[in-house]
Amino acid sequence: MSELAAIRGFKDILPGQSHLWRMLEDKARDVARRFDFSELRPPLMERTELFQRGLGEATDIVEKEMYTMEDRGGERITLRPEATAGLVRAVIEHSLHGSGRPTRLFCLGPMFRYERPQKGRLRQFHQLDVEVFGDPGPQVDAEIIMWLHTFLRELGLSDLSVVLNSLGCPQCRPVFRDSLVSFLSGHRQTLCPDCDRRLDHNPLRVLDCKNPGCQTVVAEGPVLSDFLCPDCRNHFQGVKHSLDVLGVEYTLNGKLVRGLDYYTRTTFEVHSGNLGAQNAVAGGGRYDGLCARLGGPDIPAIGFAAGLERLILLLSEQNQAAEPGPDYYAAVLCPEATEKAFALVQKLRARNLAVAIDWEPGGLKSRLKRADKAKAAKIIMLGSDELACGEATVRNLADGEQKRLPLDRPDLF
Ligand code: HAM
Repeated sequence: MSELAAIRGFKDILPGQSHLWRMLEDKARDVARRFDFSELRPPLMERTELFQRGLGEATDIVEKEMYTMEDRGGERITLRPEATAGLVRAVIEHSLHGSGRPTRLFCLGPMFRYERPQKGRLRQFHQLDVEVFGDPGPQVDAEIIMWLHTFLRELGLSDLSVVLNSLGCPQCRPVFRDSLVSFLSGHRQTLCPDCDRRLDHNPLRVLDCKNPGCQTVVAEGPVLSDFLCPDCRNHFQGVKHSLDVLGVEYTLNGKLVRGLDYYTRTTFEVHSGNLGAQNAVAGGGRYDGLCARLGGPDIPAIGFAAGLERLILLLSEQNQAAEPGPDYYAAVLCPEATEKAFALVQKLRARNLAVAIDWEPGGLKSRLKRADKAKAAKIIMLGSDELACGEATVRNLADGEQKRLPLDRPDLF
């Protein structure tokens, strides 16, 4: 099988886990409804240029992680590495922003990045992505963080922390960038090879490098919050105030720069203490210039994405509940009972009951074993004796209580 095994970093979601996924997705849709968000399902592939222009040429994703190919017509297309760029494209293409109200959207689905697979990091992974277009904030920034906070809290997850920063705007960030570059240039020999390269292309990424040498250098360097212009400073103050009013706890981290180039002002991540190296369960921020950069109107926007595999890891650690079995397990004990069994099972399923049916040959003992293995609540037994009376024997597998019920009264089951 090994030569036909699933591709590295691409995983099957097996039946034993799928109930957790369903729970996660149901909760996401439920929170979206309560926060007044509508679902938009963009395609999995877009023109490569959308991501190059949207995420930034100097980001790790665009530089080395995209699944890009040429289609048979010679067009360069890419499997989406994230959802924001595709949603921006859809908003522009369908003029979804024109209603006079902010456009509030979410999507759920797989994303693709050619990263080194490890715990909590895959090449096909899933995100819940939530975006608001047309609202400059700062209240909506806090509302978006509240959205995420509500979602995670209602999933019952603990040991999570919200980390917050402001990245400034095209007016003030370049001033910080220049100051950072001139400071880091004086310490070039201490930086890791990656940061040595980043210094020329994407110097802000040096701030969140995990290398201890780089961290020591950065600790002595300029701090972004000292460079925010008055508008950005007020905006950030407004976000923090709203979060305080909402009772959402957060910690400030001036080195949180995120891995995508489109961010302006508010950025945030949620970290878990239980995930090891890949500890970010969600991340997002404001991206006010992106719509205009992609050819649309100049509308402000903010959003986040949560990584569902990481949430599943946390949920399965603290929630050992297995998927519940069927309500009934029907055992056909003689061939003549087959038709009656089929008819009964269909009637029960039509009444919204979950019913497994056992066509395998075998005695009662092996059927009971299989019903137990299927985690069924009750077993229905149909043999020649029952058939003669037009009845079925129903046994509760938890307490062994047994009764006979008429086959023509599915409402009594
Ligand atoms: P991101 O930080 O690249 O942001 O990804 C968001 C989340 O997706 C991460 O915090 C992590 O939980 C999960 N994730 C990312 N890469 C992987 C991977 N290889 N395997 C498993 N999980 C992963 C974005 O994607 C932005 N589009 C978020 C956003 C929306 N910003 C504004 N709006």
